[in-house]
Amino acid sequence: MIEIDQLSKHYRTADGRVTEVLKAINLQVPQANITAVVGPSGAGKSTLAKCISLLEQPSAGSIRVNGSDLSRLNGEALRRARRSIGTVFQSSALLQRKSAWENIALPLRYLGVVERDISARVGELLESVGLSHKAKAFPEQLSGGQRQRIGIARALALRPCVLLADEATSGLDPEATVAVLDLLKKLRDDYKLAIVLITHEMDAVRQAADAVAEIRDGQIVQYGVLKQLLAQPDSSWGNVCSHWWRNLAWRN
Ligand SMILES: Nc1ncnc2c1ncn2[C@@H]1O[C@H](COP(=O)(O)OP(=O)(O)OP(=O)(O)O)[C@@H](O)[C@H]1O
Ligand SMILES: [Mg+2]
Repeated sequence: MIEIDQLSKHYRTADGRVTEVLKAINLQVPQANITAVVGPSGAGKSTLAKCISLLEQPSAGSIRVNGSDLSRLNGEALRRARRSIGTVFQSSALLQRKSAWENIALPLRYLGVVERDISARVGELLESVGLSHKAKAFPEQLSGGQRQRIGIARALALRPCVLLADEATSGLDPEATVAVLDLLKKLRDDYKLAIVLITHEMDAVRQAADAVAEIRDGQIVQYGVLKQLLAQPDSSWGNVCSHWWRNLAWRN
């Protein structure tokens, strides 16, 4: 469970000016839930993901994962907390000179897990992303969608309870997008993951999200539970969500 409470983030530029990127964000993502975060370019979506994954320190407010406030941790406790959060980005950033198997094994190797346990875990992960037959393939021998699925397997290596996917399906063709989104839904159900799905693709929201939050200019301006939104007649959409909902994408 992710609980974001009054989260603000500002950056100070070289000339001393302050840019407020996130303004008092409140958002909860329960376990076994996919919450889509949508909004125009520059709205603050990736910054929100970076704050949740502790790559950026919030300026104010708190982020709790399963009840513990990660922003107050440091040293070993922080390193351990980071393992509870898996991340996957647009280009899954696999190491080109390593096989799919080796890429997934990396986080386990860093932790010093013994070889036999690494083998068992990587085998499990490859199976859960449906790519056991690609274990020996190098990233350049995989399709974009397959690379993303290997990236997801790697993000799950340390058994996180939270998965952050920032534009994980951008640039994929419709079929590969469906495969990645289906995988995220399966992982949500199998591992009870709390998933934050940052996307600008409305189809992805419809297909995979349980809830959707719209960020504009650093603030959450709309939030809805998909089941409730979909149960409403079309005419009321405009009241619940602003115009973006009816568009498939902002950037075209
Ligand atoms: N390190 C930084 N220093 C200063 N400003 C930053 C920094 N990182 C992000 N910003 C600013 O914060 C704002 C939000 O950026 P962010 O990357 O979170 O947007 P986004 O919603 O993910 O956009 P996109 O859809 O294009 O990925 C932007 O105006 C950006 O310029
Ligand atoms: Mg972004």
